[in-house]
Amino acid sequence: MMLDDLLPAGVSSSVRTRDIEGFLSADEAHIVRNAVETRRREFTTARMCAREALEALGFPPAEILQDERRAPIWPEGVVGSITHCSGFRAAAVARSTVIRSLGIDAEPQSPLPDGLAELVLTSEEQTALRSTREVLPNEIERLIFVIKESIYKAWYPLTRAWLGFQDVTVTVAADGAASARRHAASDEQVASPQEFYSRWKISRGLILASTVIPRDTLEPRTAACAEKRDHDHDG
Ligand SMILES: CC(C)(COP(=O)(O)OP(=O)(O)OC[C@H]1O[C@@H](n2cnc3c(N)ncnc32)[C@H](O)[C@@H]1OP(=O)(O)O)[C@@H](O)C(=O)NCCC(=O)NCCS
Repeated sequence: MMLDDLLPAGVSSSVRTRDIEGFLSADEAHIVRNAVETRRREFTTARMCAREALEALGFPPAEILQDERRAPIWPEGVVGSITHCSGFRAAAVARSTVIRSLGIDAEPQSPLPDGLAELVLTSEEQTALRSTREVLPNEIERLIFVIKESIYKAWYPLTRAWLGFQDVTVTVAADGAASARRHAASDEQVASPQEFYSRWKISRGLILASTVIPRDTLEPRTAACAEKRDHDHDG
């Protein structure tokens, strides 16, 4: 199973469907020192995926610690994301000169538990279900959940800010694309991405999604400033 088809050129990914033995640094081992065996294994295998993906990008196999919100801390010059669920561990990384941020997420292809859809989907998304349900009849809510988690994983390292499920509305297309719009921005977030572009697929009983924020995205305000500067130069 691959993730490459969800990711643009310049992103290196590695996927494992079985846990492997691997080496953790002392500080990585410290993160999972009290964890149950399954957590220790998924953590280790995903770290191995991350090191493989880094190596393919030309970086040495670095230690990957966590920040205070549990986001992975990548080597200088690298952005990336990690996901794991039953039978699946993956990491994707890119040079920060090429990609601004990225997030990946995987979940089993099963309906969301009762009561969760109302928390995850905005009222706009719930209304749109009448047509989007055709895309994935039984698991469309789960798909929106997976896309939103991939958005959060791309968003958080850029902003170090919280983004809730109700803060973003996702529009899912049947061809494996999705776009998302962030609602009202507080002042400090206005320079942060307002729109997100994701890709998704169903593979071997899993729903997989990626969100990539490219380097050359100009946010509305930045774009307006750039335009103004150009104009000023012209004048
Ligand atoms: C952080 C979160 C997205 C993780 O998703 P998950 O499905 O629970 O778990 P996954 O196995 O897919 O991913 C776990 C990995 O995500 C990464 N991660 C954790 N917190 C993160 C953060 N704040 N930012 C980026 N990546 C993070 C870690 O690498 C972690 O694996 P590790 O602990 O082994 O290193 C989820 O727990 C969460 O807090 N969601 C609420 C916020 C949200 O999704 N908002 C939607 C906005 S539209």
